[in-house]
Amino acid sequence: MVNFNYYAPTNVLFGRGVEEQVGEIVSGYGFSRILVHFGGGSVKRSGLLDRVLARLESAGVGYVLLGGVVPNPRISLVREGIGIVKKEKLQMILAIGGGSVIDSSKAIGYGVASGGDPWDFYSGKRKPTGCLPVGVILTIAAAGSEMSNSSVLTNEEEVRKKGCSNDLCRPLFALMNPELTMTLPPYQTSCGCTDIVMHSLERWFNRGGTMDLTDALAAGLIRTVMRSAAVLMEHPDDYEARANVMWAGSLSHNGLTGCGGVGRGDWITHNMEHEVGAIFDVSHGAGLAALWGSWARYVLPSCTERFVKFATMVLDVPQQESDTETALEGIRRMEAFFRSLNMPTSLAELGVSPTEEQMRLMAHKCSGGGTVGRAADLDENDLYNIYKAAL
Ligand code: NZQ
Ligand code: ZN
Repeated sequence: MVNFNYYAPTNVLFGRGVEEQVGEIVSGYGFSRILVHFGGGSVKRSGLLDRVLARLESAGVGYVLLGGVVPNPRISLVREGIGIVKKEKLQMILAIGGGSVIDSSKAIGYGVASGGDPWDFYSGKRKPTGCLPVGVILTIAAAGSEMSNSSVLTNEEEVRKKGCSNDLCRPLFALMNPELTMTLPPYQTSCGCTDIVMHSLERWFNRGGTMDLTDALAAGLIRTVMRSAAVLMEHPDDYEARANVMWAGSLSHNGLTGCGGVGRGDWITHNMEHEVGAIFDVSHGAGLAALWGSWARYVLPSCTERFVKFATMVLDVPQQESDTETALEGIRRMEAFFRSLNMPTSLAELGVSPTEEQMRLMAHKCSGGGTVGRAADLDENDLYNIYKAAL
């Protein structure tokens, strides 16, 4: 294992009805004027937005509304949000939604507190120096942004989707009621479960560092999500399954399942998906499922030991004739799990068919012109081969 820093400052309130406490929580932190940020309309249709606004009003908290965040959130709305927060002198941002709304809120927070153009933090030109506080009412278990240090934005003009990781943006509080996720379309539930599992897989496949406890936590988390996801396919209103998936979503991406690992994981499937998402605007979880198997088979020779441990410890694969066979059976079982959630396991099943030129471009951008990855050292050509294998 390697030394690590585990920082999870978010105040989590979890369970039925916790969103009703939003007024007292926000005013308890001393905020009296806030931005309420949300997505394309699910929070209006479910009545959640109205309930939240009533609670804010009764606690004496003033607010300005900014809706319209789309999945793969856009820099243009972030810039608009920064303008509103500055003009209205707002003190914090309340995100009501999932990863897209939370990430848009974090980007607005960076822009207000750090100044300049917020894309600089995503393009890597500058590091943020501050972030306005962000609070969350979570409506989808997936990205884990409610406790994570990252946010992912799409620059629609540059056709780029990039992440920025910095502890400054970890949310101040997260109100997590599993019942709020029961209105999700089945496809989004599946995308969410896939993303949650993937956040621990990205950390698992890492040469050169781990600890038994971290492996045990990750294995328990992944197995729990796999079991709960199967329940939700049949019974989307099952509270226990919703609750397990929701809490797993936070723990899978707040750093816990990366403690002791080198550089906190591999992240190549994620980075390759971000390139696909930038061009084709696909759902993040589905994009990950479409790419993971091809990535896994490609890097297997460089990281066989971790694949064998994954297959045997997480997926109960009996030892086969060779380590490679054991590992391959683990990959097959993982893909079968994705398919059981109606997730794609190829780009064709995802509904996209990138051209040769697009695959070369995505591989180039993803590699940054160098070598990337912790499960294997991959250059631009390797990434192109993985895209090609995923077709
Ligand atoms: O916009 P509305 O109408 O709210 O609809 C959303 C959206 O269409 C809908 N939805 C959310 N809660 C609902 C609901 N529909 C009915 N009932 C509810 N209770 O679900 C759709 C997807 O929402 P979104 O927020 O996009 O989902 P998710 O949480 O998966 O976030 C995806 C984004 O997060 C990024 C992804 O790249 C993607 O841009 N990620 C962020 C991370 C982070 N900040 O730490 C890490 C992740 O790896 C990921 O990259
Ligand atoms: Zn993800």
